[in-house]
Amino acid sequence: MDEIVIQGGQRLDGEVRISGAKNAALPMLAASLLTGGRFCYTNIPDLKDIESIRQLLCTIGAQITESPDGLIVDTTGLNDVEAPYELVRKMRASVLVLGPLLARLGRARVSLPGGCAIGARPINMHLEGFSRLGARITLEHGYVQAEAESLTGNEIFFDVPTVTGTENLMMAAVLAKGTTVLRNAAKEPEVTALADMLNAMGARVSGAATSTITIEGVDRLYPATVRVIPDRIETGTYMVAAALTGGCIRILNADASHLKAVIAKLRKTGTEVDTSDGAVMVTGRRPVTSVDIKTLPYPGFPTDMQAQFMVLMCIANGLSMISETIFENRFIHVLELQRMGADIQVSGNHAMVRGAARLSGAQVMASDLRASACLVLAGLVAEGTTRISRVYHLDRGYAALEDKFRSLGADIKRVRPKPKTADGPGTEPASGRTEPRN
Ligand code: EPZ
Repeated sequence: MDEIVIQGGQRLDGEVRISGAKNAALPMLAASLLTGGRFCYTNIPDLKDIESIRQLLCTIGAQITESPDGLIVDTTGLNDVEAPYELVRKMRASVLVLGPLLARLGRARVSLPGGCAIGARPINMHLEGFSRLGARITLEHGYVQAEAESLTGNEIFFDVPTVTGTENLMMAAVLAKGTTVLRNAAKEPEVTALADMLNAMGARVSGAATSTITIEGVDRLYPATVRVIPDRIETGTYMVAAALTGGCIRILNADASHLKAVIAKLRKTGTEVDTSDGAVMVTGRRPVTSVDIKTLPYPGFPTDMQAQFMVLMCIANGLSMISETIFENRFIHVLELQRMGADIQVSGNHAMVRGAARLSGAQVMASDLRASACLVLAGLVAEGTTRISRVYHLDRGYAALEDKFRSLGADIKRVRPKPKTADGPGTEPASGRTEPRN
Protein backbone atom coordinates (compact mmCIF):
# COMPACT_ATOMS: atom_id res chain seq x y z
CA MET A 1 0.00 0.00 0.00
CA ASP A 2 1.31 3.43 -0.97
CA GLU A 3 2.47 5.95 1.58
CA ILE A 4 2.88 9.70 1.37
CA VAL A 5 6.12 11.17 2.70
CA ILE A 6 6.34 14.87 3.54
CA GLN A 7 9.27 17.01 4.68
CA GLY A 8 7.55 19.78 6.62
CA GLY A 9 8.36 23.49 6.81
CA GLN A 10 7.82 24.65 3.24
CA ARG A 11 5.78 27.80 2.63
CA LEU A 12 3.19 27.10 -0.06
CA ASP A 13 2.79 29.66 -2.84
CA GLY A 14 1.30 29.58 -6.31
CA GLU A 15 -1.86 28.48 -8.07
CA VAL A 16 -3.97 25.35 -7.75
CA ARG A 17 -6.93 24.25 -9.86
CA ILE A 18 -9.91 22.68 -8.06
CA SER A 19 -11.47 19.51 -9.48
CA GLY A 20 -15.14 18.61 -9.75
CA ALA A 21 -16.95 17.82 -6.50
CA LYS A 22 -16.99 14.13 -5.52
CA ASN A 23 -20.19 14.61 -3.53
CA ALA A 24 -21.94 16.23 -6.48
CA ALA A 25 -20.67 13.82 -9.15
CA LEU A 26 -21.83 10.71 -7.27
CA PRO A 27 -25.58 11.55 -7.08
CA MET A 28 -25.47 13.10 -10.57
CA LEU A 29 -24.06 9.87 -12.02
CA ALA A 30 -26.68 7.83 -10.12
CA ALA A 31 -29.40 10.06 -11.65
CA SER A 32 -28.52 8.68 -15.09
CA LEU A 33 -30.39 5.49 -14.06
CA LEU A 34 -33.68 7.41 -14.01
CA THR A 35 -34.17 7.15 -17.78
CA GLY A 36 -32.59 5.54 -20.85
CA GLY A 37 -30.25 7.53 -23.11
CA ARG A 38 -26.80 9.13 -23.33
CA PHE A 39 -25.80 11.47 -20.50
CA CYS A 40 -22.77 13.74 -21.05
CA TYR A 41 -20.81 14.74 -17.95
CA THR A 42 -17.91 17.20 -17.74
CA ASN A 43 -15.59 18.16 -14.87
CA ILE A 44 -15.83 14.65 -13.41
CA PRO A 45 -12.99 14.31 -10.85
CA ASP A 46 -10.42 11.54 -11.22
CA LEU A 47 -11.10 9.73 -7.94
CA LYS A 48 -11.40 6.21 -6.60
CA ASP A 49 -15.03 6.85 -5.61
CA ILE A 50 -15.85 7.79 -9.19
CA GLU A 51 -14.23 4.56 -10.33
CA SER A 52 -16.41 2.70 -7.81
CA ILE A 53 -19.68 4.20 -9.00
CA ARG A 54 -18.70 3.65 -12.63
CA GLN A 55 -18.19 -0.02 -11.78
CA LEU A 56 -21.58 -0.12 -10.06
CA LEU A 57 -23.42 1.57 -12.95
CA CYS A 58 -21.83 -0.86 -15.40
CA THR A 59 -22.84 -3.80 -13.19
CA ILE A 60 -26.41 -2.50 -13.43
CA GLY A 61 -26.12 -2.28 -17.22
CA ALA A 62 -24.94 1.22 -18.10
CA GLN A 63 -22.36 1.67 -20.86
CA ILE A 64 -19.71 4.21 -19.89
CA THR A 65 -17.11 5.76 -22.19
CA GLU A 66 -14.65 8.56 -21.56
CA SER A 67 -14.99 11.81 -23.47
CA PRO A 68 -12.25 14.46 -23.86
CA ASP A 69 -13.15 16.11 -20.57
CA GLY A 70 -15.57 13.78 -18.86
CA LEU A 71 -17.83 10.76 -19.28
CA ILE A 72 -20.62 9.56 -21.54
CA VAL A 73 -23.06 7.32 -19.66
CA ASP A 74 -25.60 5.38 -21.73
CA THR A 75 -28.36 3.86 -19.58
CA THR A 76 -30.59 2.62 -22.41
CA GLY A 77 -30.46 -0.99 -21.33
CA LEU A 78 -30.39 -1.85 -17.63
CA ASN A 79 -30.07 -5.53 -16.80
CA ASP A 80 -29.78 -5.60 -13.05
CA VAL A 81 -31.13 -3.78 -10.04
CA GLU A 82 -28.58 -4.88 -7.50
CA ALA A 83 -25.74 -2.99 -5.80
CA PRO A 84 -23.65 -5.84 -4.36
CA TYR A 85 -21.92 -5.80 -1.00
CA GLU A 86 -18.41 -5.80 -2.44
CA LEU A 87 -19.14 -2.52 -4.20
CA VAL A 88 -21.25 -0.84 -1.50
CA ARG A 89 -18.75 -1.59 1.29
CA LYS A 90 -16.11 0.32 -0.68
CA MET A 91 -18.35 3.32 -1.10
CA ARG A 92 -21.49 3.89 0.95
CA ALA A 93 -22.75 6.48 -1.53
CA SER A 94 -23.72 3.45 -3.67
CA VAL A 95 -27.04 3.65 -1.80
CA LEU A 96 -27.82 6.54 -4.16
CA VAL A 97 -28.86 4.02 -6.82
CA LEU A 98 -31.86 3.00 -4.68
CA GLY A 99 -34.00 6.02 -5.52
CA PRO A 100 -33.49 6.06 -9.30
CA LEU A 101 -33.88 2.27 -9.69
CA LEU A 102 -37.06 2.31 -7.63
CA ALA A 103 -38.42 5.21 -9.70
CA ARG A 104 -37.56 3.74 -13.09
CA LEU A 105 -37.93 -0.03 -12.62
CA GLY A 106 -40.01 -0.31 -9.45
CA ARG A 107 -37.42 -2.42 -7.67
CA ALA A 108 -33.91 -2.27 -6.26
CA ARG A 109 -31.65 -4.44 -4.12
CA VAL A 110 -28.78 -2.68 -2.40
CA SER A 111 -26.42 -3.98 0.23
CA LEU A 112 -26.76 -2.15 3.52
CA PRO A 113 -23.66 0.08 3.64
CA GLY A 114 -22.82 -0.68 7.25
CA GLY A 115 -20.96 1.79 9.40
CA CYS A 116 -17.70 3.50 8.66
CA ALA A 117 -14.84 5.01 10.65
CA ILE A 118 -16.71 8.23 11.43
CA GLY A 119 -19.97 6.72 12.61
CA ALA A 120 -22.83 4.25 12.25
CA ARG A 121 -24.30 6.26 9.35
CA PRO A 122 -27.66 4.49 9.14
CA ILE A 123 -29.95 4.97 6.13
CA ASN A 124 -33.25 4.73 8.04
CA MET A 125 -34.44 8.12 6.78
CA HIS A 126 -33.85 7.04 3.19
CA LEU A 127 -35.91 3.87 3.73
CA GLU A 128 -38.69 5.59 5.67
CA GLY A 129 -38.95 8.09 2.82
CA PHE A 130 -39.26 5.37 0.20
CA SER A 131 -42.00 3.74 2.31
CA ARG A 132 -43.83 7.08 2.46
CA LEU A 133 -43.84 7.05 -1.36
CA GLY A 134 -45.44 3.59 -1.34
CA ALA A 135 -42.43 1.28 -1.65
CA ARG A 136 -42.28 -2.03 0.21
CA ILE A 137 -38.95 -2.25 2.03
CA THR A 138 -37.54 -5.54 3.32
CA LEU A 139 -34.16 -6.13 4.94
CA GLU A 140 -32.64 -9.55 4.61
CA HIS A 141 -29.16 -11.03 4.48
CA GLY A 142 -27.64 -7.55 4.80
CA TYR A 143 -29.52 -6.22 1.78
CA VAL A 144 -32.30 -3.70 1.33
CA GLN A 145 -34.99 -4.93 -1.04
CA ALA A 146 -37.26 -2.13 -2.28
CA GLU A 147 -40.29 -2.71 -4.53
CA ALA A 148 -43.22 -0.64 -5.76
CA GLU A 149 -45.61 -1.07 -8.71
CA SER A 150 -45.76 2.71 -8.70
CA LEU A 151 -44.71 5.52 -6.38
CA THR A 152 -47.12 8.16 -5.09
CA GLY A 153 -46.11 11.62 -3.95
CA ASN A 154 -46.22 12.33 -0.22
CA GLU A 155 -44.86 14.60 2.48
CA ILE A 156 -41.57 13.44 4.05
CA PHE A 157 -40.10 15.05 7.17
CA PHE A 158 -36.42 14.32 7.89
CA ASP A 159 -35.54 14.13 11.61
CA VAL A 160 -32.23 15.79 10.74
CA PRO A 161 -31.08 17.11 7.36
CA THR A 162 -29.56 14.21 5.41
CA VAL A 163 -27.58 14.99 2.25
CA THR A 164 -27.79 11.65 0.44
CA GLY A 165 -31.22 11.03 1.98
CA THR A 166 -32.50 14.25 0.38
CA GLU A 167 -30.83 13.29 -2.90
CA ASN A 168 -32.20 9.72 -2.88
CA LEU A 169 -35.76 10.85 -2.18
CA MET A 170 -35.61 13.65 -4.77
CA MET A 171 -34.64 11.05 -7.38
CA ALA A 172 -37.34 8.60 -6.24
CA ALA A 173 -40.02 11.32 -6.36
CA VAL A 174 -39.42 12.76 -9.83
CA LEU A 175 -41.45 10.00 -11.54
CA ALA A 176 -43.97 9.49 -8.71
CA LYS A 177 -47.68 10.25 -9.21
CA GLY A 178 -48.45 13.62 -7.67
CA THR A 179 -46.43 15.92 -5.47
CA THR A 180 -43.74 15.12 -2.92
CA VAL A 181 -42.60 17.63 -0.30
CA LEU A 182 -39.29 17.06 1.52
CA ARG A 183 -39.21 18.98 4.81
CA ASN A 184 -36.04 19.65 6.82
CA ALA A 185 -34.19 18.82 3.61
CA ALA A 186 -30.43 19.25 3.24
CA LYS A 187 -29.36 22.55 1.62
CA GLU A 188 -25.85 21.58 0.49
CA PRO A 189 -24.72 22.88 -2.94
CA GLU A 190 -24.41 19.26 -4.08
CA VAL A 191 -28.15 18.78 -3.44
CA THR A 192 -28.90 21.90 -5.48
CA ALA A 193 -26.63 20.69 -8.27
CA LEU A 194 -28.60 17.42 -8.42
CA ALA A 195 -31.92 19.31 -8.46
CA ASP A 196 -30.61 21.41 -11.37
CA MET A 197 -29.67 18.24 -13.25
CA LEU A 198 -33.07 16.63 -12.60
CA ASN A 199 -34.80 19.76 -13.92
CA ALA A 200 -32.55 19.66 -16.99
CA MET A 201 -33.85 16.10 -17.48
CA GLY A 202 -37.45 17.35 -17.48
CA ALA A 203 -38.24 16.93 -13.79
CA ARG A 204 -40.04 19.60 -11.77
CA VAL A 205 -38.05 20.20 -8.59
CA SER A 206 -38.33 23.49 -6.71
CA GLY A 207 -37.01 24.80 -3.38
CA ALA A 208 -33.51 23.34 -3.60
CA ALA A 209 -31.09 25.24 -1.31
CA THR A 210 -33.97 25.69 1.15
CA SER A 211 -35.20 23.25 3.80
CA THR A 212 -38.40 22.53 1.84
CA ILE A 213 -38.03 20.88 -1.56
CA THR A 214 -41.13 20.22 -3.70
CA ILE A 215 -41.12 17.64 -6.49
CA GLU A 216 -44.03 17.49 -8.97
CA GLY A 217 -43.96 13.99 -10.48
CA VAL A 218 -43.70 13.85 -14.31
CA ASP A 219 -44.40 11.04 -16.79
CA ARG A 220 -40.99 10.86 -18.42
CA LEU A 221 -37.47 12.18 -18.24
CA TYR A 222 -34.73 12.78 -20.80
CA PRO A 223 -30.95 12.42 -20.75
CA ALA A 224 -29.00 15.62 -20.02
CA THR A 225 -25.60 17.20 -20.50
CA VAL A 226 -24.21 18.42 -17.18
CA ARG A 227 -21.06 19.91 -15.66
CA VAL A 228 -20.05 18.98 -12.11
CA ILE A 229 -19.67 21.90 -9.66
CA PRO A 230 -16.27 22.55 -8.03
CA ASP A 231 -15.34 20.62 -4.89
CA ARG A 232 -15.82 22.98 -1.95
CA ILE A 233 -14.05 20.67 0.50
CA GLU A 234 -10.99 20.33 -1.71
CA THR A 235 -11.06 24.14 -1.99
CA GLY A 236 -11.27 24.53 1.79
CA THR A 237 -8.39 22.10 2.24
CA TYR A 238 -6.05 24.23 0.08
CA MET A 239 -7.26 27.39 1.83
CA VAL A 240 -6.21 25.90 5.16
CA ALA A 241 -2.87 24.88 3.63
CA ALA A 242 -2.16 28.54 2.79
CA ALA A 243 -3.18 29.65 6.28
CA LEU A 244 -1.06 26.92 7.90
CA THR A 245 2.16 27.55 5.97
CA GLY A 246 1.89 31.37 5.84
CA GLY A 247 1.87 31.17 2.08
CA CYS A 248 -0.23 32.75 -0.68
CA ILE A 249 -2.30 30.41 -2.83
CA ARG A 250 -4.56 31.44 -5.72
CA ILE A 251 -7.29 28.83 -6.05
CA LEU A 252 -8.81 28.51 -9.52
CA ASN A 253 -12.12 26.90 -10.57
CA ALA A 254 -13.48 27.34 -7.04
CA ASP A 255 -16.89 28.67 -6.04
CA ALA A 256 -16.39 30.89 -2.97
CA SER A 257 -20.16 31.18 -2.47
CA HIS A 258 -20.16 27.54 -1.28
CA LEU A 259 -17.64 28.27 1.46
CA LYS A 260 -19.01 31.28 3.34
CA ALA A 261 -18.77 29.65 6.77
CA VAL A 262 -15.21 28.45 6.17
CA ILE A 263 -14.11 31.84 4.78
CA ALA A 264 -15.68 33.67 7.74
CA LYS A 265 -13.81 31.45 10.20
CA LEU A 266 -10.50 31.70 8.34
CA ARG A 267 -10.76 35.50 8.32
CA LYS A 268 -11.29 35.41 12.10
CA THR A 269 -8.00 33.55 12.44
CA GLY A 270 -6.27 36.46 10.66
CA THR A 271 -5.99 34.67 7.32
CA GLU A 272 -6.57 36.95 4.33
CA VAL A 273 -9.18 35.68 1.87
CA ASP A 274 -9.87 37.67 -1.32
CA THR A 275 -12.63 36.47 -3.63
CA SER A 276 -12.84 39.61 -5.76
CA ASP A 277 -11.35 38.46 -9.06
CA GLY A 278 -13.25 35.23 -9.59
CA ALA A 279 -10.49 33.15 -7.99
CA VAL A 280 -10.02 32.61 -4.27
CA MET A 281 -6.76 34.16 -3.07
CA VAL A 282 -5.70 33.02 0.41
CA THR A 283 -2.73 34.49 2.32
CA GLY A 284 -1.62 33.06 5.63
CA ARG A 285 -0.64 35.55 8.32
CA ARG A 286 1.04 35.23 11.70
CA PRO A 287 -0.03 34.96 14.43
CA VAL A 288 -2.90 32.60 13.66
CA THR A 289 -5.73 33.47 16.07
CA SER A 290 -7.56 30.59 17.77
CA VAL A 291 -11.29 30.42 17.03
CA ASP A 292 -14.06 28.00 18.02
CA ILE A 293 -15.92 26.00 15.40
CA LYS A 294 -19.10 23.95 15.53
CA THR A 295 -19.97 21.72 12.57
CA LEU A 296 -23.53 22.09 11.31
CA PRO A 297 -25.59 21.21 8.23
CA TYR A 298 -25.06 23.64 5.32
CA PRO A 299 -24.71 26.63 5.35
CA GLY A 300 -23.04 26.04 8.74
CA PHE A 301 -19.40 25.05 9.07
CA PRO A 302 -19.02 21.75 7.16
CA THR A 303 -18.14 18.59 9.09
CA ASP A 304 -15.92 17.62 6.15
CA MET A 305 -13.65 20.59 7.01
CA GLN A 306 -13.43 19.91 10.75
CA ALA A 307 -10.27 17.78 10.70
CA GLN A 308 -8.44 20.13 8.35
CA PHE A 309 -9.32 23.20 10.42
CA MET A 310 -8.20 21.44 13.60
CA VAL A 311 -4.64 21.35 12.26
CA LEU A 312 -4.68 25.14 11.90
CA MET A 313 -5.91 25.48 15.47
CA CYS A 314 -3.00 23.28 16.63
CA ILE A 315 -0.55 26.05 15.67
CA ALA A 316 -2.82 29.00 16.56
CA ASN A 317 -2.12 31.29 19.52
CA GLY A 318 -4.71 30.20 22.05
CA LEU A 319 -7.49 27.76 22.89
CA SER A 320 -10.01 26.51 20.32
CA MET A 321 -13.15 24.50 21.07
CA ILE A 322 -14.14 22.29 18.16
CA SER A 323 -17.62 20.75 18.38
CA GLU A 324 -18.62 17.97 15.97
CA THR A 325 -22.42 17.78 15.80
CA ILE A 326 -22.92 15.69 12.64
CA PHE A 327 -21.06 12.40 13.20
CA GLU A 328 -20.51 10.59 16.49
CA ASN A 329 -16.94 9.46 15.87
CA ARG A 330 -15.20 12.09 13.81
CA PHE A 331 -12.19 12.79 16.05
CA ILE A 332 -10.10 9.75 15.06
CA HIS A 333 -7.50 12.09 13.57
CA VAL A 334 -6.90 13.55 17.05
CA LEU A 335 -4.94 10.45 18.10
CA GLU A 336 -2.56 10.84 15.17
CA LEU A 337 -2.22 14.60 15.65
CA GLN A 338 -1.34 13.99 19.32
CA ARG A 339 1.44 11.68 18.20
CA MET A 340 2.78 14.63 16.19
CA GLY A 341 2.79 16.83 19.29
CA ALA A 342 -0.65 18.42 19.16
CA ASP A 343 -2.23 19.37 22.50
CA ILE A 344 -5.86 18.28 22.14
CA GLN A 345 -8.29 17.07 24.80
CA VAL A 346 -11.43 15.28 23.59
CA SER A 347 -14.58 15.11 25.71
CA GLY A 348 -17.64 13.67 23.98
CA ASN A 349 -18.22 15.59 20.75
CA HIS A 350 -15.92 18.45 21.81
CA ALA A 351 -12.19 18.77 21.20
CA MET A 352 -10.27 21.47 23.09
CA VAL A 353 -7.20 22.41 21.06
CA ARG A 354 -4.39 24.25 22.84
CA GLY A 355 -2.46 26.06 20.14
CA ALA A 356 1.17 27.07 19.74
CA ALA A 357 2.10 23.43 19.46
CA ARG A 358 5.24 22.61 17.57
CA LEU A 359 4.19 19.63 15.46
CA SER A 360 6.89 17.10 14.71
CA GLY A 361 6.87 14.65 11.83
CA ALA A 362 5.92 11.04 12.58
CA GLN A 363 4.72 7.80 11.03
CA VAL A 364 0.92 8.17 11.04
CA MET A 365 -2.04 6.24 9.67
CA ALA A 366 -4.99 7.60 7.73
CA SER A 367 -8.40 6.39 8.95
CA ASP A 368 -10.89 8.10 6.65
CA LEU A 369 -10.93 10.54 3.78
CA ARG A 370 -10.88 13.87 5.60
CA ALA A 371 -8.65 12.61 8.43
CA SER A 372 -6.10 11.73 5.73
CA ALA A 373 -6.21 15.29 4.40
CA CYS A 374 -5.69 16.56 7.93
CA LEU A 375 -2.55 14.42 8.32
CA VAL A 376 -1.14 15.76 5.04
CA LEU A 377 -1.73 19.31 6.28
CA ALA A 378 -0.08 18.49 9.60
CA GLY A 379 2.90 17.01 7.75
CA LEU A 380 3.28 20.23 5.76
CA VAL A 381 3.92 22.25 8.94
CA ALA A 382 5.52 19.60 11.12
CA GLU A 383 9.25 19.63 11.77
CA GLY A 384 10.95 16.77 9.97
CA THR A 385 9.48 13.84 8.08
CA THR A 386 5.87 12.64 8.19
CA ARG A 387 5.02 9.31 6.62
CA ILE A 388 1.29 8.63 6.11
CA SER A 389 0.09 5.07 5.50
CA ARG A 390 -3.28 3.86 4.14
CA VAL A 391 -3.44 6.76 1.69
CA TYR A 392 -6.06 4.87 -0.29
CA HIS A 393 -8.48 6.85 1.89
CA LEU A 394 -7.12 10.06 0.33
CA ASP A 395 -7.42 8.75 -3.20
CA ARG A 396 -11.17 8.42 -2.72
CA GLY A 397 -11.68 12.17 -2.55
CA TYR A 398 -8.62 14.18 -3.58
CA ALA A 399 -7.50 14.22 -7.22
CA ALA A 400 -3.71 14.38 -7.70
CA LEU A 401 -3.19 15.71 -4.19
CA GLU A 402 0.57 15.28 -3.96
CA ASP A 403 1.07 16.75 -7.46
CA LYS A 404 -1.01 19.78 -6.57
CA PHE A 405 0.82 20.33 -3.28
CA ARG A 406 4.22 19.77 -4.94
CA SER A 407 3.37 22.42 -7.53
CA LEU A 408 2.81 24.81 -4.60
CA GLY A 409 6.27 24.12 -3.20
CA ALA A 410 5.61 21.25 -0.81
CA ASP A 411 8.25 18.56 -0.34
CA ILE A 412 5.83 15.66 -0.77
CA LYS A 413 6.00 12.33 -2.58
CA ARG A 414 4.13 9.08 -2.83
CA VAL A 415 6.18 5.94 -2.18
CA ARG A 416 5.43 2.23 -2.33
CA PRO A 417 7.16 0.39 0.50
CA LYS A 418 9.01 -2.60 -0.92
CA PRO A 419 8.17 -5.94 0.66
CA LYS A 420 10.48 -6.67 3.60
CA THR A 421 13.58 -8.54 2.42
CA ALA A 422 16.76 -9.91 3.99
CA ASP A 423 18.39 -6.48 3.90
CA GLY A 424 15.41 -4.86 5.61
CA PRO A 425 12.52 -2.74 4.40
CA GLY A 426 13.07 -0.18 1.73
CA THR A 427 10.87 2.11 -0.31
CA GLU A 428 10.59 3.02 -3.92
CA PRO A 429 8.57 5.78 -5.58
CA ALA A 430 5.02 4.71 -6.26
CA SER A 431 5.69 5.43 -9.89
CA GLY A 432 8.01 2.44 -9.86
CA ARG A 433 11.12 4.55 -10.52
CA THR A 434 13.91 3.69 -8.08
CA GLU A 435 15.40 6.70 -6.35
CA PRO A 436 18.62 6.81 -4.38
CA ARG A 437 17.75 5.86 -0.81
CA ASN A 438 18.66 8.78 1.44
C1 EPZ B 1 -22.88 13.23 3.01
O1 EPZ B 1 -22.93 12.01 3.70
C2 EPZ B 1 -21.48 13.34 2.44
N1 EPZ B 1 -21.24 12.25 1.51
C3 EPZ B 1 -20.46 13.30 3.59
O2 EPZ B 1 -19.17 13.48 3.03
C4 EPZ B 1 -20.76 14.45 4.55
O3 EPZ B 1 -19.87 14.40 5.64
C5 EPZ B 1 -22.21 14.35 5.04
O4 EPZ B 1 -23.11 14.32 3.91
C6 EPZ B 1 -22.60 15.50 5.94
O5 EPZ B 1 -22.43 16.70 5.27
C7 EPZ B 1 -21.76 12.34 0.26
O6 EPZ B 1 -22.43 13.29 -0.10
C8 EPZ B 1 -21.47 11.18 -0.67
P1 EPZ B 1 -25.98 12.66 6.08
P2 EPZ B 1 -24.36 11.40 4.16
O7 EPZ B 1 -27.04 11.72 5.67
O8 EPZ B 1 -25.43 11.84 3.22
C9 EPZ B 1 -27.54 10.78 10.14
C10 EPZ B 1 -16.90 13.00 2.66
O9 EPZ B 1 -15.91 13.04 3.39
N2 EPZ B 1 -28.42 9.96 9.32
O10 EPZ B 1 -26.14 14.10 5.71
O11 EPZ B 1 -24.18 9.97 4.42
C11 EPZ B 1 -26.07 10.49 9.93
O12 EPZ B 1 -25.65 9.40 10.73
C12 EPZ B 1 -18.19 12.42 3.18
O13 EPZ B 1 -16.93 13.41 1.47
C13 EPZ B 1 -29.32 9.11 9.93
O14 EPZ B 1 -29.36 9.00 11.15
O15 EPZ B 1 -24.58 12.16 5.54
C14 EPZ B 1 -25.43 11.79 10.34
O16 EPZ B 1 -25.34 11.83 11.74
C15 EPZ B 1 -18.05 11.94 4.62
N3 EPZ B 1 -30.17 8.37 9.16
C16 EPZ B 1 -26.45 12.85 9.89
O17 EPZ B 1 -27.69 12.14 9.73
C17 EPZ B 1 -30.15 8.47 7.78
O18 EPZ B 1 -30.98 7.79 7.13
C18 EPZ B 1 -26.11 13.53 8.56
O19 EPZ B 1 -25.76 12.51 7.65
C19 EPZ B 1 -29.23 9.34 7.18
C20 EPZ B 1 -28.38 10.09 7.96
